[in-house]
Amino acid sequence: MTETYLHVRNLGVNYGETAALQGVPLELAKGGRLAVIGESGSGKSTLAMAIAGLLPKSARYEGSIEFPGLAHRPKLGKDIGVLFQDPSGSLDPVMKIGDQIAEVVMTHQGTGWISARVRAAELLDRVHIPKALSRLNSYPHEFSGGQKQRIALAAALAGNPSLLIADEPTSALDTVVQRHIVNLLDELVRESGLTLLFVTHDIALASERADQIAVLYKGRLVETGAAARVLGRPGHPYTKALIGTHISLDTPRRKRLAEIDTSELQ
Ligand SMILES: Nc1ncnc2c1ncn2[C@@H]1O[C@H](COP(=O)(O)OP(=O)(O)OP(=O)(O)O)[C@@H](O)[C@H]1O
Ligand SMILES: [Mg+2]
Repeated sequence: MTETYLHVRNLGVNYGETAALQGVPLELAKGGRLAVIGESGSGKSTLAMAIAGLLPKSARYEGSIEFPGLAHRPKLGKDIGVLFQDPSGSLDPVMKIGDQIAEVVMTHQGTGWISARVRAAELLDRVHIPKALSRLNSYPHEFSGGQKQRIALAAALAGNPSLLIADEPTSALDTVVQRHIVNLLDELVRESGLTLLFVTHDIALASERADQIAVLYKGRLVETGAAARVLGRPGHPYTKALIGTHISLDTPRRKRLAEIDTSELQ
């Protein structure tokens, strides 16, 4: 039997008057790869950030988020690593990348500065930054967008988390670079046994890289299950509509999903 890593029950999130999520249940198996899909504004980021414990203070929530896979309350950075769409948002522009990663290692692994720097170089090498050791003293702006996202990934993994939450980690990148990052994520997840929750607009990506899919529509979970089943034999008309749009990696982000006629789904 597979062990449950994460158990969300009846999650509701409000930002003032806006109900971003309502009554959402979710279960994620240890080592599982869950893709959260749905159109813009459906609550994907809210769900991801609620699980990461990163909702803004103004948000009110109800329900429960439990981690049966952990013996303790999860700590951000240590148990949960987070990767955002824009790597610039998670990297400090005025701090050397080696120092940024080493700081996470020191904070969460309790190591000294020298071994944290060694570990930072190992992590940069792990995400395929060429000549990692000699790049420790470089600043984020010295790298391309794809490389910056690799560095952000190294920082997200520096605490040795068991869960990685990635909110559209490749949407801001060129198609070819997207593939590289997605392949890298796949490789890391498979090798390290990480549990992965990723948000995407991209059905093709979800079908290739997730074993489980959760479909959000206007803040509600309309369908969840094995990826092959949800995408192969969707049970909800909204999922059918999503699949019907033939979303591909190279469709501009804001154009995707916009054509769906959801008037009959109320
Ligand atoms: N900090 C916030 N304050 C107020 N409202 C918010 C905030 N964040 C999100 N919302 C609202 O909550 C709803 C869900 O937003 P969320 O960002 O979770 O959607 P999303 O599915 O991630 O969309 P996108 O695909 O555009 O990233 C939307 O109506 C959004 O406007
Ligand atoms: Mg979002």
